[in-house]
Amino acid sequence: PETITVQELAQRMSERSADVVKTLMRMGVMATINQAIDPDTAELVVTEMGHRPKRVAEGDVETALTESVDAPETMLPRPPVVTIMGHVDHGKTSLLDALRATDVAAHEAGGITQHIGAYQVTLPSGQKITFLDTPGHEAFTAMRARGAKVTDIVVLVVAADDGVMPQTKEAIAHSKAAGVPIIIAINKMDKAGADPNRVRTELLQDEIQVEQLGGDVQSIEVSATKKMNLDKLEEAILLQSEVLELKANPDRAADGVVVEAQLDPGRGSVATVLVQRGTLKVGDVLVAGAVWGRVRRLVDDRGNAVDSAGPAFPVEILGLDGTPQAGDEFHVMESEARAREVADFRARRDRQAQLARAAGGRGTLEEMIK
Ligand code: GTP
Ligand code: MG
Repeated sequence: PETITVQELAQRMSERSADVVKTLMRMGVMATINQAIDPDTAELVVTEMGHRPKRVAEGDVETALTESVDAPETMLPRPPVVTIMGHVDHGKTSLLDALRATDVAAHEAGGITQHIGAYQVTLPSGQKITFLDTPGHEAFTAMRARGAKVTDIVVLVVAADDGVMPQTKEAIAHSKAAGVPIIIAINKMDKAGADPNRVRTELLQDEIQVEQLGGDVQSIEVSATKKMNLDKLEEAILLQSEVLELKANPDRAADGVVVEAQLDPGRGSVATVLVQRGTLKVGDVLVAGAVWGRVRRLVDDRGNAVDSAGPAFPVEILGLDGTPQAGDEFHVMESEARAREVADFRARRDRQAQLARAAGGRGTLEEMIK
């Protein structure tokens, strides 16, 4: 067929028709549920709603859920993605640094070479854990606002000499709202005033019941500075990730999320992304938020150039035509023309939204239907 109705398109994406209509309105297209729309518009809507469009025949738009939802037999185990959260000064950065130093690959490569927003640790067993660094919090929050998920597990750092504090509670609320399991790292155990029992009891107020108190939340006593029990914490993470049965299809066009991005004077736009599905390769064309580009170079968390990055791998992308925002999703596209089209459309939409805000939020459709 040359066209597709809004309703049918919605069904193929498993989205509500009303949401498709709203998305169309944002794009400046007025359509009712039974109205037919042309393939190009349909493809844009599909992409805009986070699905991957696939045209079966020229002129025919098939959103192909088989592509959006990977078949069970294509799903292979992947490393867990962990975000470290906690109150100010409770030792998030220290713990990340200490955990990074446990990476067996770090010693081979001759130490830590650079700082990016995410890194991966290989344990002596060969198992891997991906950690999102502090800027990951922004991505975490931005993604959560859109209902998407970056983090599999939250490690909540609580200083043993300070106990549960406002940002501890905030992190618990965030994690619970996102449905992400929590592991408690009771840090600074080397300090004189350390009182892990107090921490465990205080956590009950926020309905975190640790194993020692008969609950099912793991809690590990650690010291980031003395590098105490880091292996136990890593074991706890692996145990939790086994329960979650984390899997992804590595054998497809990649998508994922931007963890951080900046304009580097020497290298141009550099975006650190976390691949969530598929394998990202040098030469791939992608859209990230409102920018697009062809991957010129991929750099891993040790500063080494790599050819590809699979699920749960953090990697820097060079070659984008602009700087995306933390929390933006990226999708590998089938052609430069399509990538440019989607990026242009989003850039236009963002500009319109900005103008609308500047005008006091009145008068445009974009603002009204938000
Ligand atoms: P913000 O990023 O500012 O929220 O802090 P943070 O949670 O990243 O804490 P950071 O790692 O910067 O540590 C804060 C202070 O606590 C620093 O002076 C660290 O040296 C100290 N610290 C962190 N972990 C430990 C620990 O295990 N034992 C002791 N004694 N001090 C620690
Ligand atoms: Mg810090």
